[in-house]
Amino acid sequence: MNLWDEDFYQIWREQKLALYPVNPNDLLVEIQDAATPRPAELQQLSFYLARYNFALYRFIKPPKAPKQQVHQLAQSISLKTLAHNLCADVDSLTAIQVTQHQGQHDYIPYTDKKLSWHTDGYYNAPDEQIHGMLLHCARPALQGGETQLMDHELAYLLLRDANPEYIHALQHPEAFTIPANILEGKVIRPAQTGPVFSFNAEGSLHMRYSARQKNVLWRDDPSTQAATQFLLNLWEQESVYKLRYTLQAGEGLICNNVLHCRTAFVDAEEPEKKRLLYRGRYLERAN
Ligand SMILES: [Fe+2]
Repeated sequence: MNLWDEDFYQIWREQKLALYPVNPNDLLVEIQDAATPRPAELQQLSFYLARYNFALYRFIKPPKAPKQQVHQLAQSISLKTLAHNLCADVDSLTAIQVTQHQGQHDYIPYTDKKLSWHTDGYYNAPDEQIHGMLLHCARPALQGGETQLMDHELAYLLLRDANPEYIHALQHPEAFTIPANILEGKVIRPAQTGPVFSFNAEGSLHMRYSARQKNVLWRDDPSTQAATQFLLNLWEQESVYKLRYTLQAGEGLICNNVLHCRTAFVDAEEPEKKRLLYRGRYLERAN
């Protein structure tokens, strides 16, 4: 995909815009048997992924071994190499729940707070960039915990429509720096500098981004600053390109690491009823 080829870009742009508005329920695939998804179900997921970079699924029968079956589903749509992270379980699918564990105290995903717009693994090293992501809901929150999504290709398109200079700025290899993560004097993750937008080997667009103001250093140049402000404004506006969906038990999201955020939530009192999601981060795209 060469987005700097103007003829190609104009056709691509029209095709992307023509996909909206869309209701997230129309991008949901029902999977009859979580242990063995049918080829037609997998094809439907691929169809949505190719167009929107995300798709939703629902296991019709509650899976007996959710983590194992989520993992299998991921494998069958090319999500094969799990990236490790600090808080992953032994099998590298990460349980996302409110937790007080040592070392997780700083990470908003493990609280009931709102999570601002981001792509996953934006602090990862260049060779560990996350291209695919899966989020499976075992138990929803009592209230809230809505996921919002925006295809990162749409974010690119809107930025370029506003000013092509924004794209040049965000493709700069020093556009975006995440300082080192230091816990009790120990560097547990070194600083990472890199572009926001890049293209991976097969030509698909990749995005590293976090709307957090804390712990993010943007390149000090007017176009970069204006581009980041454009994105911050976008998060405050209503837009047909932002989809909202609250995952229910047995449902999940598969995506090519699109932009996403989460609203705050209220958990049940009983530990066995608290919100529980499983997340897998992969080095491949889903297809
Ligand atoms: Fe995320």
